[in-house]
Amino acid sequence: MWVGNSMLFNWLDRNLEKFAGQSELSQGKIFMLHSGAFYDVEKKLLAPGEMPKILHWFKWQNFTTWVTGICLFVIVYYMNGAAGLVDPSVHDVDRTVAVVMSISIIFVAWLIYDAMWKTVGESNPRATTVVSLLLLFGSIFAFSQFFSGKATYMQAGVVIGTLMTGNVWMVIVPSQHELVNATKAGREQDPTFSIRAKQRSIHNNYLTFPLLFIMVSNHFGAATSHPLNWLILILVMIGGAGIRHFMNIRYRGNGRELATAAWLGPAVASGAFAIAGLMIVTRIDARPVDAVDMPVKFARVQEIIATRCVTCHSAKPSDEMFTSPPGGLRLDSPRQIQVNAKAIRLRVVDQQNMPFNNKTNMTPRERGEIKRWVADGALAD
Ligand code: HEC
Repeated sequence: MWVGNSMLFNWLDRNLEKFAGQSELSQGKIFMLHSGAFYDVEKKLLAPGEMPKILHWFKWQNFTTWVTGICLFVIVYYMNGAAGLVDPSVHDVDRTVAVVMSISIIFVAWLIYDAMWKTVGESNPRATTVVSLLLLFGSIFAFSQFFSGKATYMQAGVVIGTLMTGNVWMVIVPSQHELVNATKAGREQDPTFSIRAKQRSIHNNYLTFPLLFIMVSNHFGAATSHPLNWLILILVMIGGAGIRHFMNIRYRGNGRELATAAWLGPAVASGAFAIAGLMIVTRIDARPVDAVDMPVKFARVQEIIATRCVTCHSAKPSDEMFTSPPGGLRLDSPRQIQVNAKAIRLRVVDQQNMPFNNKTNMTPRERGEIKRWVADGALAD
């Protein structure tokens, strides 16, 4: 709802039309058709006496997005001994320390960002944009050295989502309050409020697509568990913001539009850039497994699975966290192992995100053995 709202209002602002008899306070009109009737919307400032009794604000969409996101983040990444947050093969950090770090980063990020944009951001927006982006990309790299792959993406997402929420509640909504108060008092709005609000709302606008990608990123194991996962995320963020940019410049107001090729071409190119980057980086085989030059017997595969996987992937897992087989995957019988050979190879050899945060300490040699067994036809001899 939040992203949808933001896009609708952006689009609306860019499509306002001048009309005959337009008052000085009016910024234009737009007619829309939806659910069986026409909407006649005018964007304008109000004279002091004109304040309506009921005024609709748009802030709860953002609030519910943030609150539900934070709750999910806490449940998935902080609970169960922060098993989702910490991957010992990335960094063997104490779990309490990891949670405290994760929470502190969220607050510190807001403090730094807000302070920067309240001070130098107003006089020197370009340099501040560059510094902000470097800090953001630097943080993503740092997260990737510290947290598990999936948590790296989510930590970045929670930071970005919190900055966006801070923008709404600490900057944009106060600016709207100032507008309402100024209107009631019949004075001009203090321009610092509106300049600041405009800046922050542009930031939010560019961050929507990167944020949406992060929200679904846990489905892309090839990206999150890759050793260069930070680079993939940065490339996708640049591509996503690029698409948004060319969608933004499409409408020029008053019904005028950029030629389709002038915005659609670059928007598609931005998307292609992100996808190509993603494909190239995920092809880099940065986590090789040991080469195994002898065929591997099925008994050996069963032994590996029994020690490394079955603590979780069993009808009755012995793992203290996973009390039912994750993803419904059971590897108790020879048949179950064999039919899942491809999925096992994907997670154990290609993505190397199983065993879950390598909880059962699988070795590169064992990964090599699984690879060899699958390459030889995954036979249950
Ligand atoms: C500590 C518990 C744990 C261990 C040990 C573990 N896994 Fe998993 N596995 C999970 C969890 C949690 C998921 C679901 C999340 C995900 O897909 O990343 C999962 C998902 C999977 C999936 C995807 C299932 C699906 O279709 O959704 C495969 C395949 C898999 N594991 C294979 C393995 C193999 C092979 C091993 C042993 C080498 C292993 N796992 C060890 C916890 C574990």
